[in-house]
Amino acid sequence: MQIPPALNLLAISGSLRANSTNTALLGAAALLAPEGVAITVFEGLGALPHFNPDHADTPSPEVAAFVRAAVDADGLVIACPEYARGIPGTFKNALDWLVGSTQFPDKPVMLFNASPRANDAQAALRLVLSTMSARIVDDACITLDLLGRPWNAAAIVAESRLAEPVRKALATFCNAIQ
Ligand SMILES: Cc1cc2nc3c(=O)[nH]c(=O)nc-3n(C[C@H](O)[C@H](O)[C@H](O)COP(=O)(O)O)c2cc1C
Repeated sequence: MQIPPALNLLAISGSLRANSTNTALLGAAALLAPEGVAITVFEGLGALPHFNPDHADTPSPEVAAFVRAAVDADGLVIACPEYARGIPGTFKNALDWLVGSTQFPDKPVMLFNASPRANDAQAALRLVLSTMSARIVDDACITLDLLGRPWNAAAIVAESRLAEPVRKALATFCNAIQ
């Protein structure tokens, strides 16, 4: 008999780039998840329609699936790049679809930052997420330097200076949730 995971986390990358460092970081997180913790990397960000409050109560199947996945998750793992010193529009669009959910407030969130110079986007993310009443677990938020070369999940896992902080942050996050 298969034992269900103790925690289900949803990982959301703010980048649509095929070789995204943020998406690679989340892929590594899925591989490094503590025992009993399942991390699913959301793959539908680019398919979400533009947010329109008129459609908030009658969402498209893509939006409904996204909101359901976020609401059902025990916590969100977010890795988002900085564009023009802010949150990429695609990712802010996804967050806007979650704003009206009555089940989102108090959702535990951890932030991975794949770029040490992306301070403005991180600050903006914190402002938006706290406005949405998410519970940002500060001790689980980390910055790693993945700038300047392509990465994939396996390469991150293989490099202990990157893998260890990810492992530790995930353990801290899961402890905070439980
Ligand atoms: C349109 C655009 C705007 C960017 N603006 C900034 C910026 O304001 N500050 C910054 O530190 N990096 C900026 N960058 C660099 C990205 O944040 C960086 O390349 C990041 O690694 C991309 O994440 P990804 O690898 O997950 O796609 C920008 C990149 C793009 C494509």
